[in-house]
Amino acid sequence: MTQELAPDVHDRSAGRHTGWWRSAVIYQVYVRSFADGNGDGNGDLPGARARLPYLKDLGVDAVWLTPFYASPQADGGYDVADYRAVDPMFGTLTDIDDLVRDAHALDLRVIVDLVPNHCSDQHEWFKQALREGPGSPLRERFHFRPGKGEQGELPPNDWNSLFGGPAWTRVEAEGDGEWFLHLFAPEQPDFNWEHPAVRDEFRSILRFWLDLGVDGFRIDVAHGLVKAAGLPDIGHNVEMGLLNTDELPFFDQDGVHEIYRDWRSILDEYPGERIAVAEAWTPTLERSARYLRPDELHQAFNFEYVMAGWDAAELRRIIDETLAAMAPVDAPATWVLSNHDVVRHRTRYGSLPRARAAALLMLALPGSTYLYQGEELGLPEVTDLPDSVRQDPSFFRDNGQEGLRDGCRVPIPWGGDRPSYGFGASEGSWLPQPARWQDLSVQAQTGDPGSTLELYRAALRLRRELPGLGDGELEWLEAPEGVLAFARPGFVCTVNLGAAEAEMAAPGEVALSSEPVVVRGGLVRIPADSCIWWAV
Ligand code: GLC
Repeated sequence: MTQELAPDVHDRSAGRHTGWWRSAVIYQVYVRSFADGNGDGNGDLPGARARLPYLKDLGVDAVWLTPFYASPQADGGYDVADYRAVDPMFGTLTDIDDLVRDAHALDLRVIVDLVPNHCSDQHEWFKQALREGPGSPLRERFHFRPGKGEQGELPPNDWNSLFGGPAWTRVEAEGDGEWFLHLFAPEQPDFNWEHPAVRDEFRSILRFWLDLGVDGFRIDVAHGLVKAAGLPDIGHNVEMGLLNTDELPFFDQDGVHEIYRDWRSILDEYPGERIAVAEAWTPTLERSARYLRPDELHQAFNFEYVMAGWDAAELRRIIDETLAAMAPVDAPATWVLSNHDVVRHRTRYGSLPRARAAALLMLALPGSTYLYQGEELGLPEVTDLPDSVRQDPSFFRDNGQEGLRDGCRVPIPWGGDRPSYGFGASEGSWLPQPARWQDLSVQAQTGDPGSTLELYRAALRLRRELPGLGDGELEWLEAPEGVLAFARPGFVCTVNLGAAEAEMAAPGEVALSSEPVVVRGGLVRIPADSCIWWAV
């Protein structure tokens, strides 16, 4: 079985150039919505495996798979009941083993999601802790506390869940009445990372997946594991949500770094540069960089970039601040525009031309980049899902984040002219697809030079061919109002974020552009909301 594989069975990369991740383009597969191999309406591992050639052809370096572990799916699989098992909805251990093997044969790396802040309330440890009652040593692996108030009827402190409501739930059983902490849904109890058994367990989980051959981990809520000693009150009202970057007693505590130094030493024991990328929402980019010190993690998503508007000055400021923050720790910037938690950037920025320009801009910046499935098709957010099909747990709880994360998780259209557009569902897909997605499908866009899919393919091809792209430096150039222009070795990028066409001297030969452009007499007119790549 999979567990018995020698550590390097899948490793075909040992001894190759170092630092692959510093320039990598990594494609996020939201497994349930990518491709459905068995027609039950849910994407799965065999479905994703069958689409690996598509990803190879697209030109990405690696794939990040969102959680496919045994889970009741209270929060899209981020509620893990067994970290070493595949949920039957997604397949089997053999399926993930096959997927990793095929990916490596295509020279694609595979990153899996690791969810260490909390588990599912159906995890064996938590079920046992509940059963054994107050005082049981098993409760120490979580945060159980007596309540406040005369009868213990009030939560132990004033923390709220990111999904809304208190971050504490009271155990109802007779003679119990303790409360347990959950920063997310009540079905996601937080682990107590001060407990050595928790630390040991995650070391073992890391090794389990590394032995199977995965190339790295995306660490869910990487900034949340360690809580301030004594679980102190915040003392004032904070608006909770994933995007919250206030200083809080349960986020970005200095103690998390010891955990990542430990994990880094495990990753480094394996051949082929296995990596970890942090999902860490921190108050500043400098705080993010702390996760990327040379003996800690490799990448951290740049959420300031995700949250920025379509605005030249704002983007330039964030780009500069990012590069300045990463330099002292010698880490690459990690750019991202969309993921499974935010509104798709086509909709956020307000138009397809902007989304296309934004993609070219991002892919020209120094560092690595994450793409979210469907952005290469220019998919918009689905904003009219009926409440009856929604699954986002925060939708069902008050005063938390807006609860609208289902709209970016609608299954991918691959081809055909009606739902499920080749996704594979024999009847309805788990979230319904809009009635007019046939023109956005992979099949419809393939071979159409004006399509967004072909734009991404061309951009990723050039990114591999032009030595100046990926990791490295950037130099800003003079540009008209609303235009950002920067040079990389042998390359220039110009993007017009203004409302009107802008004119400037052509800095080279057009290599790629998000809209048709005309260069005449050494001058280029850059359409509004467009980006041009120049070979110099
Ligand atoms: C991360 C995930 C999100 C999940 C949360 C709790 O932010 O990206 O989808 O709900 O963690 O695990």
